Amino acid sequence: MASEDVYRDFIIELYKNPQNFGKIEGADFHAKMHNTACGDVIELFLKVAGGTIEDAKFLGKGCAISQASASLFTGYLKGRKADALEKIRKEDVLALLKIDLSRNPTRMKCALLPLDALRKAIKK
Ligand code: FES
Repeated sequence: MASEDVYRDFIIELYKNPQNFGKIEGADFHAKMHNTACGDVIELFLKVAGGTIEDAKFLGKGCAISQASASLFTGYLKGRKADALEKIRKEDVLALLKIDLSRNPTRMKCALLPLDALRKAIKK
């Protein structure tokens, strides 16, 4: 796969028009995660009601892959059980992006930044 193949149209579209972008005041889970390779950041906010993720949003800046991943990941989190969050695997996130990053460790780190933020938020 050529490196430019990771920039599918829907990824560019989500970069230009991110979904679930914003802050949740009084979030039940919150964490900010930096990509140490580039300095970009994703800040994740989750609101829980009745044991379920009622809302999920993110703030931050980064490349198209990280922003698209955060858009898709926050959508994926809504409606999930809060006590099952730690079972989410990197494969689940990569499946949302529908691109093969197995030979692109730099972009893999970008794609998994929202998941890293979730894991940090759970630990808090
Ligand atoms: Fe910074 Fe992708 S280059 S998150």
